[in-house]
Amino acid sequence: MDLPAGPALTADDQAARIFAWRRGFNATWLIDLGIKLSLFADLAAHPASTPAAIAGRLGLKQRHVEIWCQTAYAFELLEAATEGVFSLAPFMDQVLASPGHPRYVGGYVQLGTDYATEDFRALRAAFATGEDKPFQGRDDQFSRHVADATYGLQWLSARKLLPEIPAVKAALDAGGALLEVGPGSARQLLMLAKVFPQARLVGVDIDPVGVRIARDTVARAGLTERISILEGTVEDAASAGPFAAVVMVEVLHEIRQDLRAGVIAACGQALMPGGWLLVIDETYPETLQELRAPESRFAVQTGFEELHWGNVIPTRREQLALLAAAGFAAPEISVMGEGFTIIQAQRPAKQTSP
Ligand SMILES: C[S@@+](CC[C@H](N)C(=O)[O-])C[C@H]1O[C@@H](n2cnc3c(N)ncnc32)[C@H](O)[C@@H]1O
Repeated sequence: MDLPAGPALTADDQAARIFAWRRGFNATWLIDLGIKLSLFADLAAHPASTPAAIAGRLGLKQRHVEIWCQTAYAFELLEAATEGVFSLAPFMDQVLASPGHPRYVGGYVQLGTDYATEDFRALRAAFATGEDKPFQGRDDQFSRHVADATYGLQWLSARKLLPEIPAVKAALDAGGALLEVGPGSARQLLMLAKVFPQARLVGVDIDPVGVRIARDTVARAGLTERISILEGTVEDAASAGPFAAVVMVEVLHEIRQDLRAGVIAACGQALMPGGWLLVIDETYPETLQELRAPESRFAVQTGFEELHWGNVIPTRREQLALLAAAGFAAPEISVMGEGFTIIQAQRPAKQTSP
C-alpha cells in the first residue's frame, strides 16, 4: 500500500497497513486450502458453479465451501456473474490451478504455508541461538514446491535467455555440454533437452533429496542418456566439461557466503574459453532508499523468509566482486520485476588466470 507523504500520515493509515497484511495472511491460507482441496482445479474444470455443486463433486461440506467461495470472491480471486454462482477470476486458472504453468504461484504460496510457517515459529529461538535450518535435506514436497515456485525463472532461462546467446546456441546445437548448478528437481534440464536436442546436459547439486528427485525425473522422462545428475559441488562436475554454458537459477544466494568465491571461480574454470555463465538470483539492497525500492521487494522478502535457512542474499557489490575475482569481465546485469536479477558473463576467449 502506498503511504501518504509525511505529515498527512495518521495512526489510522498505519493501522490500515497492518490490517491489509493480516488480510494477506488469510488470503494466503485461503489459497492454500483452495489448492489442497482442489477447489481452484474444480472451478477451472466447471466454471459457473454453485458451492453446493462444488461441495457435491469434491465430497466437502457445503457450508465450508460457501464461506470459502464468498471470501475468495471478496478477495477477487473468484468472479460471480449471478448471485451464488462462482467462476475463477481472469487468469486465476493459470496462476492458481495450473502447476507447471510459468505463471503458477501455488508452489510459492505453499512454501509459505507448509514450510515458512514452521520456520518463522522456530526463528524466535534462533534469534538467541543463531542456529540455522538449511535448505538441504528437507522432504520431497519441499523440493517440489521450490521447483513450482521457480518454474517461471527456469522457463525464462531455458526458453529465452540461453537460446538468445549466439555462442551458447551454436555450441549446444553442435553437441556441446551445459552444466546446471543446483538443478533442484531438474525441470529446467528437461526443458533444455527439448530446446537443445543435440546437447549433453549435466546437473550438480549438494542436496541429496534434490539429487534423488532429479534423477527420478530424468529417468521417468527417459533422458538418462543425455542428462547426468551428480551429487557434489561444481568441482565434482568439471571432468564432465568443458561446458558451453553454466547456469544457476535461485542458487547463488543459497550458497554459503564463505564458499561463493570458490563456486563462481569453479564455474569459470568449468567453462570453455568464450563460454557463458548465466545466473538468475536476487540482489539485496545496500541503502535505505533501495530497501524500499519496488525492485528490492522480493529480495527483502526472501532475506527475511530465508534468514532461518542461513541464506544471505548477495548485494550488487558482492556479485560484481565474485565475478571479477573469477575472471569474468564486464558482466551484463539486468533486473526484472520486483527483484529478480539476471547476470550474463562470458569467460574470456583467452583465459587470464583469475
Ligand atoms: C532454491 S534451490 C533452486 C533449485 C532450482 N534451481 C530451481 O530453480 O528450482 C537452490 C539449489 O541450489 C543447491 N545448492 C546450494 N549450494 C550449492 C552448491 N555449492 N553446489 C551445488 N548446488 C548447491 C541447493 O541444494 C538447491 O537444490
